[in-house]
Amino acid sequence: MLTLERVGFAYPGQEPVLREISLSLRAGEKLGLVGDNGSGKTTLLHLIMGLLRPDEGRVILFGRPMLAEADFAPLRGRIGLLFQDADDQLFCPTVLEDVAFGPLNQGKSREQAEKIARRTLERLGIGALAERVAHQLSGGEKKMAALAAVLAMEPAVLLLDEPTTGLDFHTRQRLLELLAGLDLAMLLISHEYDFLAEVTKQVLVLRDGHIVTEAAAPHTHVHVHPAGTHPHRHQP
Ligand SMILES: Nc1ncnc2c1ncn2[C@@H]1O[C@H](COP(=O)(O)OP(=O)(O)O)[C@@H](O)[C@H]1O
Ligand SMILES: [Mg+2]
Repeated sequence: MLTLERVGFAYPGQEPVLREISLSLRAGEKLGLVGDNGSGKTTLLHLIMGLLRPDEGRVILFGRPMLAEADFAPLRGRIGLLFQDADDQLFCPTVLEDVAFGPLNQGKSREQAEKIARRTLERLGIGALAERVAHQLSGGEKKMAALAAVLAMEPAVLLLDEPTTGLDFHTRQRLLELLAGLDLAMLLISHEYDFLAEVTKQVLVLRDGHIVTEAAAPHTHVHVHPAGTHPHRHQP
């Protein structure tokens, strides 16, 4: 689905952020990605989307090397990126329009696109936000609305840049169950190891511009939260 071959990248006039990054993501595979602030995680996703171009190496999507914008353009709908900042994703007057935007762009009629948008919002448990003004939503609501906008395009690969930031406990659990249940290839950036452990099968670490394999296997701690009615496990 997605392969990076020895990808190197530096922002103009700066030291390289990424050096010789190689990784591959197969159909249905879910990988986690962790790394300190500024280690280049977001940059990596932007290279995969073609928002940035590598200085070295290649990005290969669905078996095709991505050399120019013309290569990326037809594939963008098949790769969904949830931006780190939801404000980068939501730009229409209402949530419904934002979520319908992708399907409309993919050639669906307005009626079809709105139907898909409503269905996607319902699936994420935020149907009630459809007519709301996107920029007035809370941080967590925006995150979920942005995710709806991404999923409405039915991508084959999902790139998620810190999706749990700003989410309350229940929304986070809902997101966790949704992502764990999605049969999609996924690259998930998060600082929350428990979330990564529940959703992904392997976690990569970005450090000093390189992908390093985690030396120690993740181990479980009991988590603490307010009393609630949501059924979940405290032990593996
Ligand atoms: N547009 C940009 N121009 C110049 N430097 C940038 C830009 N975006 C990010 N950087 C720098 O590149 C490094 C990696 O950033 P980023 O990929 O956002 O890291 P992360 O997502 O892991 O926190 C940081 O040092 C950051 O300051
Ligand atoms: Mg980032």
